[in-house]
Amino acid sequence: RKIAVFASGSGSNFQAIVDAVESGELQADIELLVCDKPGAKVIDRARHFGIPTYSFLPKTFASKADFEKEIVSELQSYGVEFIVLAGYMRLVGEVLLKAYEGCIINIHPSYLPAFPGKDAVGQALKANVAETGVTVHYVDSGMDTGPIIEQVRIPVLPGDTEDTLQQRIQKAEHQLYPAIINKLLQKDTVGGFLH
Ligand code: GRF
Repeated sequence: RKIAVFASGSGSNFQAIVDAVESGELQADIELLVCDKPGAKVIDRARHFGIPTYSFLPKTFASKADFEKEIVSELQSYGVEFIVLAGYMRLVGEVLLKAYEGCIINIHPSYLPAFPGKDAVGQALKANVAETGVTVHYVDSGMDTGPIIEQVRIPVLPGDTEDTLQQRIQKAEHQLYPAIINKLLQKDTVGGFLH
């Protein structure tokens, strides 16, 4: 199965996905990294593994539809069937959603529907909750609102800072995401939430 990963930042989840492909835990071909922040660390990671990158500056396009048309044509030229968002800090628009209906998933660092949007870890700390979590879900046009595929709970420990809590959450993400991607691809449930 040909997949693309979309990321904007450090790319530790991207790295976990690449590692899982290399170890055979995840049976997929990562055809392309799509990145909306030229210069992001994730691009170096992709280069290191010889994974092609499409990076673009959103503000150089007239609209989201315009850059998503470019993205779709890149994805199609690589035969990408399934899209994995891993820290892509942007809402997916109509053009991409239509082209890849039911075939886009995201990972979010909270137990949704709690703490959607930016800084989910900081939100959880401020709310003083005893646990937060990680959620993998299908992507729709909302902010972290699509149908939930799987969730795990993560405790918030006394004395936790954003850093320590983030580390605990990311460790769980790095285990969970490759495993779920593999499950979805193997079960042939790609597009499953619509069909
Ligand atoms: C992850 O915590 C993910 O849940 C969120 O963005 C973060 C990306 O981190 N959507 P990284 O770039 O994979 O390290």
